[in-house]
Amino acid sequence: MSAKVMNGTEMAKEIRAEAAEGVAEMRDKHGIVPGLAVVLVGDDPASKVYVRNKDRAATEAGMVSESIVLPDSTTQDEVLSVVRRLNGDARIHAILVQLPLPDHIDEDAVIESINPDKDVDGLHPFNMGLLMAGLPRFIPATPEGIQQMLLRSGFDPEGKHVVVCGRSNIVGKPVANLLMQRSAGSNATVTVCHTRTKNLADITRQADILIAAIGQPRFITADMVKDGVVVIDVGINQIEAPERKRGYRLVGDVDYDAVSEKAAAITPVPGGVGPMTIAMLLLNTLKAARYFMHPHLRKLGG
Ligand code: GUN
Repeated sequence: MSAKVMNGTEMAKEIRAEAAEGVAEMRDKHGIVPGLAVVLVGDDPASKVYVRNKDRAATEAGMVSESIVLPDSTTQDEVLSVVRRLNGDARIHAILVQLPLPDHIDEDAVIESINPDKDVDGLHPFNMGLLMAGLPRFIPATPEGIQQMLLRSGFDPEGKHVVVCGRSNIVGKPVANLLMQRSAGSNATVTVCHTRTKNLADITRQADILIAAIGQPRFITADMVKDGVVVIDVGINQIEAPERKRGYRLVGDVDYDAVSEKAAAITPVPGGVGPMTIAMLLLNTLKAARYFMHPHLRKLGG
């Protein structure tokens, strides 16, 4: 079998166009332009690229976009005061602090300082709790992007065995919670594996849908999946590639070529989950602006 390639770039383009339409309508009908602020601390090259892409995407969708780039030497109090300023800025409906933060900054304290109504990353404990309770308000962008990729590719998770490899707050935990919800587009049976899981391959081989969010290049090999599996590869790893001008190339957490031979469908890296994350961030920003205009919608999850 040769896998169907789930093209995240194409799907993200459609979603970004939907976001742009929503922005135009809000601006024309209500005179409100959704605003996104992204805060980057330090000079991690990958994070810089992500932040630049988010800024560009928000601007292209017609949003107000503010990127705040702070040096590595920034103190925790300084970061907290930037977040406080953004919490009180009426032009900004959505705040994202790019992770990871430098070691001297307490990530939890920063996330908890974000006004939950502007927490489009869905990482504030309040929003994580709502997701867990089955009342999601802001679903983290990568998990929601994964769900959209599955649905838009015709792979409804309902009744399927989804195996998630990875238990991070950004991907593993929320995607497991999301796909096990009692709601359309979810209703999966979910198993979460992690670094201490015994007999990992025995479990991954049971997956109808396998989500790899491990952070190790080509960790999932062909012998770890069953024929016909649907594979979502969240990993973005740099590996040395002397033949390339920049000296490296990007690979996922899945051994793409070999696993493609067995899978029914697979996401590429790059061009899979990554672009979807940005597209869902734009939809969450639009949602935050809608909630700002109509607070009663928040309760309805509208
Ligand atoms: N770093 C990598 N992915 C993400 C994300 O989705 N949100 C934030 N805030 N930081 C990230």
